[in-house]
Amino acid sequence: MAATILAIANQKGGVGKTTSTINLTRAAVTALGLRVLVVDADPQGNATKALAPEYQGSLDQSLATVLDKTKNATLIEAIVPGEWAGVDVVPAGSDALADAAQNLVTMKAGRESRLKRALAEVTDKYDLIVIDCPPSLDQLPINAFTAAHAVVIVTEPGQFALDGLARLLDTIEIVQEYTNPQLVIAGAIINGYQRTNRMDRWCTDLRESLEAPVLDPPIQRATWIAEATEAGCGLDEWNTPKASNLHRTYVEHLGNILDNVRKAS
Ligand SMILES: Nc1ncnc2c1ncn2[C@@H]1O[C@H](COP(=O)(O)OP(=O)(O)OP(=O)(O)O)[C@@H](O)[C@H]1O
Ligand SMILES: [Mg+2]
Repeated sequence: MAATILAIANQKGGVGKTTSTINLTRAAVTALGLRVLVVDADPQGNATKALAPEYQGSLDQSLATVLDKTKNATLIEAIVPGEWAGVDVVPAGSDALADAAQNLVTMKAGRESRLKRALAEVTDKYDLIVIDCPPSLDQLPINAFTAAHAVVIVTEPGQFALDGLARLLDTIEIVQEYTNPQLVIAGAIINGYQRTNRMDRWCTDLRESLEAPVLDPPIQRATWIAEATEAGCGLDEWNTPKASNLHRTYVEHLGNILDNVRKAS
């Protein structure tokens, strides 16, 4: 069976894409025993920092060299072992990834499909491929959406966030129209939730307006989530009841995401 490919996305910065990438990955290896490849498609390299910290910065092989049309490196060459058993990582490659994305803009044909073609080589080796998208709507997320079976939207609650989602949905529609008709939105994760009437109203609005499943419950805002995740520590390893509960929530969310992908295919 070929891997299910998920793009974790929102062009808004700091909403919890990388946090979701890491915790869904943890859920996949611990609860479901899946072999996971995390593709760090963000020049900031935060997923690499947490999951394969030895491979930060500029590297001989990385997603940057895979996407760079002058280098034409294969994806297999760029894969490194992650800190967690069952998790491999394609490191971002830092600024070189931003340059590679910029170079794609001037490429005439096939630029949207470079990641898809590169991943084709390894889809039989993994059960799940998770692409951590950058906070942009340029060629990096477009390559991720073109390669993926599904987008998982991560959003924080708030009116500005809702405005941004409209642009994200437009981009997804364009990709569905031109390069990936099968692409679905497998779920939206609300991250950074705090119980207030305003936030609850916003969550209700999102559930009513988004034509995609909103994954319940939302992920609360708490400093220990940032501490654990940034340190590359699984929430199941954090040894507090709250963290174990949240780990189970990510397991549930991943189960629902994978069900939604299956139903759509
Ligand atoms: N639920 C949460 N509670 C507390 N802190 C959080 C939570 N989720 C994320 N953070 C913290 O907020 C910051 C931004 O989160 P994260 O890096 O996951 O967002 P992102 O969308 O990937 O950002 P970027 O767009 O820069 O890639 C990080 O420092 C992270 O540890
Ligand atoms: Mg990020």
